[in-house]
Amino acid sequence: MLRRIVELRDFGASGWRVPVVGLGTWQTFDVAPDRLPAARAVVEALIDDGGTMFDSSPMYGRSEAILGASLGGARDRSLVATKIWTRSVDEGRAQFAAQLQYFGGRVDLEQVHNLVAWEAQLDWMEAEREAGRIELLGATHYSAAAFDELERVMRSRRIQAIQIPYNPAERTVEKRILPLAQDLGLGVIAMRPVGSGRWRLDRLPRSFRGTAEPVPRELADLGVRTLAQALLKWCLSDPRIHCVIPATSRVDHAHDNAEAGAGPWLDRRQRELLESVL
Ligand SMILES: NC(=O)c1ccc[n+]([C@@H]2O[C@H](COP(=O)([O-])OP(=O)(O)OC[C@H]3O[C@@H](n4cnc5c(N)ncnc54)[C@H](OP(=O)(O)O)[C@@H]3O)[C@@H](O)[C@H]2O)c1
Repeated sequence: MLRRIVELRDFGASGWRVPVVGLGTWQTFDVAPDRLPAARAVVEALIDDGGTMFDSSPMYGRSEAILGASLGGARDRSLVATKIWTRSVDEGRAQFAAQLQYFGGRVDLEQVHNLVAWEAQLDWMEAEREAGRIELLGATHYSAAAFDELERVMRSRRIQAIQIPYNPAERTVEKRILPLAQDLGLGVIAMRPVGSGRWRLDRLPRSFRGTAEPVPRELADLGVRTLAQALLKWCLSDPRIHCVIPATSRVDHAHDNAEAGAGPWLDRRQRELLESVL
């Protein structure tokens, strides 16, 4: 059933409009082929809801292959953001060749994973972009310790997008990375938007725990039904974030996450309320 509930945002100055909620694949899609139907169901749920951005990497084991097989005929209606993760240019090219097989002969956003050998990898990635097999280039890092280096890549103007961690416990990007991305017109994807499962529901105040009806008043006041939705809305309430990519292995969570991809967004008081209970 097509619901199309996820809002679109400009992806910096790239010319893309992207769904504000997509799907990460770390761990959740690194599964044996007999789990393909379950992965496909998650992908279909997101696509039905309009969450058509999918993130992967050669670092994630079987995830790229499972994602490619899950997309099937929906590949043309989706955006694939994957990565190159190796010090070796030859190995990087081999990773790209495999991706062309998985993703129908092109990669929409090719990112240098954790900035590994970024100058050498971007040299050939730029040529692939010229040739039309890659549409946009990007860079990712999971650690604030690498943000000086990330800034250097951003200022090089060789990339059109970044992927950074953003959630109430990881906010370093607010200081320099997000303002710089805005100045440079870069697209911004937020990894770990629900904190990689860091917050345990049973440790939160009782009034924040519920996922069933009736929705607890505190969550209802934030316009959401679940803690994960509150976290996604917290993230997307900063307009400098263009897309969040929560990973999930569950169809119900995929729908929940998509539902958080539409306004109204949280104001400062609502964001602070959530921060105060985590
Ligand atoms: N260096 C990098 O480039 C880098 C680093 C880290 C991450 N990433 C990318 O960012 C993506 C997201 O980060 P992440 O996977 O670390 O963390 P995350 O998306 O913040 O958290 C994933 C966890 O949250 C749970 N979850 C998701 N939706 C939920 C919901 N509605 N309700 C309850 N639980 C929910 C999932 O469990 P269930 O399966 O039970 O839903 C999963 O265990 C990755 O998958 C990857 O694609 C990139």
